[in-house]
Amino acid sequence: MPITIREAHDDEIEKLIPLLREAEPLERALRWSLANLVDAVYRIDDAQKLIGVVTLQWRDEPAEIIDLAVHADRRGQGIGKKIIAWLLDEGRRRRKHEILVGTANSSIDNIAFYQKCGFRIDHVRKDYFWYYEDPLFEHGIRVRDMLVFRVDLHAEPFEAQQRLRVVASPHFKQPS
Ligand SMILES: CC(C)(COP(=O)(O)OP(=O)(O)OC[C@H]1O[C@@H](n2cnc3c(N)ncnc32)[C@H](O)[C@@H]1OP(=O)(O)O)[C@@H](O)C(=O)NCCC(=O)NCCS
Repeated sequence: MPITIREAHDDEIEKLIPLLREAEPLERALRWSLANLVDAVYRIDDAQKLIGVVTLQWRDEPAEIIDLAVHADRRGQGIGKKIIAWLLDEGRRRRKHEILVGTANSSIDNIAFYQKCGFRIDHVRKDYFWYYEDPLFEHGIRVRDMLVFRVDLHAEPFEAQQRLRVVASPHFKQPS
C-alpha cells in the first residue's frame, strides 16, 4: 500500500504529539508553536499506521516548515525526503515562492538532511532556543541558535544551473 499524506483533523492532533516531540522535545514549546505558528498539520501513514508528521505555517511568504518527524523505526528509508518533495509541490500548488525550515546549530543530522532535500543555508536566529532552561546537548554541542534553510520553489535545480553555465562558457571543452 502506498504511503499517504493528508491534513490531520483537529481531534487527531493530540495523538500526533508524541511523534512531534521527536522534533521538539519540550512539550510546552511544541504546544505553543501549534497554537501560534502552525496553520496545517499533516500526518503520513503507511498501511494506516502513523509513520510521520509535519507542521507548517503556510500563511506567510516565505512559508515555513515548523516541525517534522519520521517514526524512529522508519528513518533512513527515504520517507523524510518524500515528505519534503510533497511539501515543495504543495507550496507550488499554493503559489508560494519559498519555504524556510530551521534546525538547531547542534543537529548535524538535520543539517545534512535538509541540504539533501534541496534547501540551502540562509541565516541564523541567534539564541532562538533560549527557552531550554535545562541546557540540551547534541553531539556534545549545546543547542542555542537556529540555523535557517531556504528553498526557492521555482529555481532550476543546482545541477541544471551548473550545466547551463558550463555550456555557456567559451573556454569549456566537452570531456571526451
Ligand atoms: C530528520 C528526519 C525527518 C529525516 O527523515 P528520514 O526519513 O530518516 O530521511 P531520509 O531517509 O528521507 O533521508 C534523506 C536523505 O538525507 C540523508 N540523511 C537522513 N538522515 C541523516 C543523518 N542522520 N545523517 C546524515 N544524512 C542523513 C539520507 O542519507 C538521505 O540522503 P540521500 O538522498 O543521499 O540518500 C528524521 O531523521 C527524523 O524524524 N528525525 C527526528 C526528528 C527531527 O529531528 N526532525 C527535524 C527537526 S525539524
